[in-house]
Amino acid sequence: MTNSIRLNLTVNGEARSVEIDPRRLLVEVIREELELPGTHIGCLTGDCGACTVERDGQIIKSCLALAASAEGSEITTIEGLAENGELSTLQQAFWDEYGFQCGYCLPGMLFSAKDLLAQNASPSEDEIRHAINGNLCRCTGYDTIVKSIAEAAARTA
Ligand code: FES
Ligand code: FES
Repeated sequence: MTNSIRLNLTVNGEARSVEIDPRRLLVEVIREELELPGTHIGCLTGDCGACTVERDGQIIKSCLALAASAEGSEITTIEGLAENGELSTLQQAFWDEYGFQCGYCLPGMLFSAKDLLAQNASPSEDEIRHAINGNLCRCTGYDTIVKSIAEAAARTA
């Protein structure tokens, strides 16, 4: 690869090192070089939230970051959310409460919800709706997503 750079980072707890074009977005490298297609590309303009991942404990829209900026960082993608091979409490609540249909928005919804619950263990409906306002869903009408997050909060209370 011409003018490539090496990117070293930790992804879902595993040290990874890949050769990348420095112009590539983090979401592209996650999906194509790191072969983790659970992170979705919707708009590439920061509006839909489908590309949300965690970087060093903070949620980011990975279409708004160059992959090179993730050097040395710790990334968690939706593939890293399961706990000991089982769905996390949050994932299970989304499953049980029909929190997704096509699943395109799911990675972003899960990370926004996880971030909310880490800061507020018992959020109100308004707080849940506010937390996911950067995530677009074309299928569910949002009610089942809100229920899923409230259910996850209740299960971990
Ligand atoms: S693809 Fe990143 S916010 Fe839509
Ligand atoms: S479940 Fe289809 S976009 Fe949300």
